[in-house]
Amino acid sequence: MSTPLKAPLTAIPAELVSVADYARYAQQHIPHAIYEYIAGGGGDEITLNRNRQKLDELLIHPHVLTDCTQGSTQTQILDETWRHPMMLAPVAFHRLVHEQGEIATAQAASVLETGMAVSTLSSVSMEKIAAELDSPKWFQLYFQQSRDFTLSLVKRAEAAGYSKLIITVDAPLHGIRNRAQRAKFVLPAGVEAVNLVDRPELPSAAFDASQSIVFQGMMSETPIWQDIEWLQQQTEMPIILKGILSPIDAKKAVDLGIAGIIVSNHGGRTLDCIPSAIEALPVIRQAVGESFPLLLDSGIERGTDVFKALALGADAVMIGRPQLYSLAVAGAIGVGHMLRVLREELEVAMALAGTPTIASISSASLWQQN
Ligand SMILES: Cc1cc2nc3c(=O)[nH]c(=O)nc-3n(C[C@H](O)[C@H](O)[C@H](O)COP(=O)(O)O)c2cc1C
Repeated sequence: MSTPLKAPLTAIPAELVSVADYARYAQQHIPHAIYEYIAGGGGDEITLNRNRQKLDELLIHPHVLTDCTQGSTQTQILDETWRHPMMLAPVAFHRLVHEQGEIATAQAASVLETGMAVSTLSSVSMEKIAAELDSPKWFQLYFQQSRDFTLSLVKRAEAAGYSKLIITVDAPLHGIRNRAQRAKFVLPAGVEAVNLVDRPELPSAAFDASQSIVFQGMMSETPIWQDIEWLQQQTEMPIILKGILSPIDAKKAVDLGIAGIIVSNHGGRTLDCIPSAIEALPVIRQAVGESFPLLLDSGIERGTDVFKALALGADAVMIGRPQLYSLAVAGAIGVGHMLRVLREELEVAMALAGTPTIASISSASLWQQN
């Protein structure tokens, strides 16, 4: 018989000290199939594992005897001043792991002065989350089949006070998620994409055997570059593309007047066998130039990871799975603690590496390996 699940904790155990600890603890708080859906990646998880492996291979070049008394993690992201170079990545369905869902996450983000990107697939409405969120508020858009409905989501986000629009471009369809399939993951009753309840009925596609269910089916509804251009005409919100790994695509985005890019492989959840985000980052930085806003996610779970990403050209990072693990373990206080751990680890890394400000972290902050 499986052990009964534990209710969310009301205090953080003294031995829970790192972000990775939350993944272990979370398994006692959420059903196995849900855990597998969250933790898993695409295919054989080659990309998922590579995200960590490539971060681990990087080494920091420490400098001693530096005056760090004026140290700060404050940074400028587009027109926003952030307390630290981290944001919660858009992650669907927080109510999968905690009754309060995104409300608890938003409360924690506010207290820790950390921005939050709210998913199209949030399990609490974008308006209710916005009302709780007192730190940078970004909305993540998945294009919908109907342009009118897509636009209605964007207009709702504007009205709710979101300042930036992330368009996720690397997941027009799900990757091959064998791990979630083996665990028989299904969305539990009571958890749904509440922002989409008014979505118009999709016409039921009739396929003949000569057609591909992917190319003529699902992909016939997914956005292409021209759709991004169309949306640029429809909103005042700066648009940020999430899920770019190719320097060629990055350059195209810059030429189109996109405001920023999130270098990401969706946490290894879409196409398997693509590069880790951290190894794509330097070539993308080179393609877009020195001052273009670049964020990175996929695999970040230590302050030293944040440091490495900044050293390779990211302006900030996003945190994905750890927000769900910490939410499962201890609700808002779990998410708050997880963010505090990351922030302190980053501060310690900066102090011990002799780089007291975000601007002082550069490629010279990494050990050059031959
Ligand atoms: C359970 C889960 C749900 C996600 N939902 C979304 C989503 O709705 N929109 C989106 O753009 N990215 C989504 N992502 C991807 C994250 O934004 C992010 O790219 C990824 O989790 C980063 O990797 P990390 O989990 O290693 O930090 C999701 C990721 C997970 C694990």
